[in-house]
Amino acid sequence: MNPKPFAFEVTARQGRARAGIIHTPHGIIPTPIFAPVGTQATVKAVTPAQLEELGVSLVLSNTYHLYLRPGAELIAELGGLHRFMHWPHPILTDSGGFQVFSLSETRQVDDDGVTFRSHIDGSRHRLTPELAIEVQEKLGADIIMAFDECAPPYDRAYNERALERTHRWAVRCLEAHTRTDQALFGIVQGGVFLDLREKSAQFLVSLDFPGYAIGGLSVGETKGEMHAVLELVDGILPEDKPRYLMGVGTPQDIVNGILRGVDVFDCVLPTRLARHHAAMTRNGRLNMMNAVYARDPSPIDPQCSCYTCRNFSRAYIRHLIVAREMLAATLLSIHNISTLIQLVNEARDAILTGTFDQFAAAFFALQNQSNV
Ligand code: GUN
Ligand code: ZN
Repeated sequence: MNPKPFAFEVTARQGRARAGIIHTPHGIIPTPIFAPVGTQATVKAVTPAQLEELGVSLVLSNTYHLYLRPGAELIAELGGLHRFMHWPHPILTDSGGFQVFSLSETRQVDDDGVTFRSHIDGSRHRLTPELAIEVQEKLGADIIMAFDECAPPYDRAYNERALERTHRWAVRCLEAHTRTDQALFGIVQGGVFLDLREKSAQFLVSLDFPGYAIGGLSVGETKGEMHAVLELVDGILPEDKPRYLMGVGTPQDIVNGILRGVDVFDCVLPTRLARHHAAMTRNGRLNMMNAVYARDPSPIDPQCSCYTCRNFSRAYIRHLIVAREMLAATLLSIHNISTLIQLVNEARDAILTGTFDQFAAAFFALQNQSNV
């Protein structure tokens, strides 16, 4: 592969909100952006052609899952992750740190790495910062993540220990990373403790990563605590590097993140909710299995311009769910992802035209009105 530079430019600002462009070897990512999650090298129930049609520019995948199945060597042998999943646009892989802690039942962390059992067949494995980077180099995503430890948000002693480890692992990830056509992002941790967050952001900035993620949020803390962390790190992270809020997800959290300087979001929420029959809208969720939709000829969301809303009624979607048809998950996933893509696109346009304050005010007024 021809190494091309990775770059980020901020093209407009309003308050702390920024609109920009991330350049990668597989194309550009306009920011703010929402990335749907393709854990196992597929965004569940949606084809790459459908993702393109709904305007997705970045897909996230997981080192943990692909390392266990089918294995990074196999994906490398078949031409890398872009080719394997037929997504020729930008891809970001998470490092496996978070997934080991959330998915694997038995795991032992030590200063060198994590030993765990596979959630698939119980087999024993060990991930280290070096292996997490090696696997991510074989997969070949445009943006790869440092191997980190995400501690429970309120446990101070645990967060102090985990932070030391995460910082040493960040150094080891940088030393292990050899591919010049991939950008390695560092991950700020520290739970709800602002002094730890400050220390983490400062330390990672000193290592000069091409981008920074904020991890360990949306894991049980309050909205106020999340916002305080975002505001603090916004003042420390360099303005000319992208900021990525990991695993965040709801329309409210996305607008609140953009207001506090975040450029990139990812979450399983739109596709997971779709498989549980829920349609996302800007002012709440609809349970599409509800009998009130049985004869409803209107689209899920009359404001939405997605393929699903342009062509199908609520009655039809409900019928598919009741009849247990697979297309229900596809049409709902398309709608839910599209809701978040349309949201970040409108936010971006508003920042570019200097109307983001009004956009955010109108967005939050809608929330209060519908009381969700
Ligand atoms: N996804 C959501 N939160 C996190 C985190 O704290 N670390 C990593 N690596 N991935 C995440
Ligand atoms: Zn729609």
